[in-house]
Amino acid sequence: MSEFAFELRDVVHERQKRIVLHNITLKLRAGRPTCLIGSSGSGKTSFLRLLNRLESPVSGEILFKGRPIEQYPVRQLRTWVGFAFQAPAMFEGTVSHNLLTAARFANGKITQADHDRVNEVLILADLNESYADREADQLSGGEKQRVALARTLMTKPEVLLLDEPTSALDPKSGARLVEALKKLVHSGVTVIMATHRLEEGEALGGDTIVFEAGRVVEHRDATSGNETGAVHVE
Ligand SMILES: Nc1ncnc2c1ncn2[C@@H]1O[C@H](COP(=O)(O)OP(=O)(O)OP(=O)(O)O)[C@@H](O)[C@H]1O
Ligand SMILES: [Mg+2]
Repeated sequence: MSEFAFELRDVVHERQKRIVLHNITLKLRAGRPTCLIGSSGSGKTSFLRLLNRLESPVSGEILFKGRPIEQYPVRQLRTWVGFAFQAPAMFEGTVSHNLLTAARFANGKITQADHDRVNEVLILADLNESYADREADQLSGGEKQRVALARTLMTKPEVLLLDEPTSALDPKSGARLVEALKKLVHSGVTVIMATHRLEEGEALGGDTIVFEAGRVVEHRDATSGNETGAVHVE
C-alpha cells in the first residue's frame, strides 16, 4: 500500500456555487489516524464527502493510493473507503438486516461469511450481540451512529471516514467508542475522523488537520509534533 491513503492537490470545492474548501493541498497517511477539527461550518464534512466521492471538487486532484480517485469504480471505492455519517439513515428492519444489506450492496450477494461477521462488527462498533435483532429505526441517535459504523465495517474497509461519531453519545460512551476506534487503528484501518472534541484526537494519537472557514490552517504530525504542510492561501 502506498504510504499515503489520500493526496489532495489544489482542491477547490463548491456547494451551491459557494466555495466551501479553498485550494487544499495535503497528504493523509495510510495506517495512521487523522483528526479533522475546526468550528462549525469550517468544511470538515465537506472534506470527508470528497474522499469517497459523495461529491466531486470543481478543480484540483484527489489521489487514493496514488491513483486519481475517479479512476476507481465508485462502488468499489466505497467498500474500501467507508463513511459513517453523523446522523445516519437506517434501512428498514433489524440491525442485522441493516448490516447484511450493506454487504449485499457491496458484493451483490450475502454469504455465510457475512452472517458470521455480524456479531464481530457489532462488537467492533461498541455494540453487543443483543442489538442484532433490534429494529434499527427505533434505536437512539447514538446507537444508530454505532450501527452505521458497524454497517461500514461489514466490507472491511481500508479507510474509515467518521463524521463526529461520538456527537450523540454521553462522555463515557464516547470514550468507549474511541477505545473501539483505537482497536481498529491497531488492526491497520486508516481512520479519518471529524470531531469537535480535541481530547478524542489526542486519545487516538493521530495527525491533526485544522480547518478554518474552508481553509486548512494547520496540519500537525503526531509523531514529530511538527507541521507537515500547513497551507495558507490568502
Ligand atoms: N448541502 C449544502 N448545500 C450548500 N452548502 C452547504 C451544504 N452543506 C454544507 N454547506 C456549507 O458548506 C460549508 C462547510 O460546511 P460543512 O458541513 O463542511 O462544515 P463542518 O465543518 O462539517 O461543520 P459542523 O461542525 O457544523 O458539522 C458551510 O458554509 C455550509 O453552510
Ligand atoms: Mg460537519
